[in-house]
Amino acid sequence: MALATDSRSASELAASPAHPARTTLILAITGASGSIFAVEMLRALASDERVARVLLVVSPSALRVLAEETGVSGRNSLVQRLLGSAPGSASEKITLLEHQDIGAPIASGSYPVDAMVVLPCSMGTLAGIAQGIAGNLIERAADVCLKERRRLVLCVRETPLNLIHLRNMVAVTESGATVFPLIPTFYNHPQSVEDIARNYVHRVLQHIGLPQPGAYAWGVPQAAEDLA
Ligand SMILES: Cc1cc2nc3c(=O)[nH]c(=O)nc-3n(C[C@H](O)[C@H](O)[C@H](O)COP(=O)(O)O)c2cc1C
Repeated sequence: MALATDSRSASELAASPAHPARTTLILAITGASGSIFAVEMLRALASDERVARVLLVVSPSALRVLAEETGVSGRNSLVQRLLGSAPGSASEKITLLEHQDIGAPIASGSYPVDAMVVLPCSMGTLAGIAQGIAGNLIERAADVCLKERRRLVLCVRETPLNLIHLRNMVAVTESGATVFPLIPTFYNHPQSVEDIARNYVHRVLQHIGLPQPGAYAWGVPQAAEDLA
């Protein structure tokens, strides 16, 4: 089957009334496997003109896993090192916040945020959110999203799942979050690990109202330029 994509450009998508031009997002990276998915998400947000601001929180365990899986270690210039010199990357709109800074703006519901994505989301962070622990900035910001009825997407990753994990997923779903398991698709015929991660990121961004140019869509005729 031919690859089907959304052929609209980022500016065309931005001009659509359904998609506000200035979006503020929280991206939290926790210590589950799948760092490359977080890197793809950062790339997509950095180059998306509709996204004005990204508040990024990275847990200490996420730093450990990032080092293991991407070779990028430590917090210094983390965003710049993860994004590299990718064309169109606007890393200045991404602010790295301290994991323990519960005085950061996103710890309060009075700070306007459109949505929060936790990618990848560990079972530990899932548990903290499900139980309303708010013991660090990621858990607190997620708690704020739930109480303010804002979009919260938890890209959980673990296998196999125990009953505690499953019950916590039910609890966050009942509270208004979307559990968006970090599971790849293959019907889009990915050619690389990056392809797999990018398609997953496209699905998450579509879910929060930021459809991406070039995103695969089942059953939609492929744009001519994508066939070239
Ligand atoms: C290489 C590596 C991979 C891991 N993968 C997972 C995973 O896929 N899912 C998970 O829930 N925990 C995973 N962990 C364990 C978490 O990092 C650990 O539970 C940690 O306390 C989570 O903390 P955080 O939620 O604050 O980031 C992994 C740890 C390491 C070192």
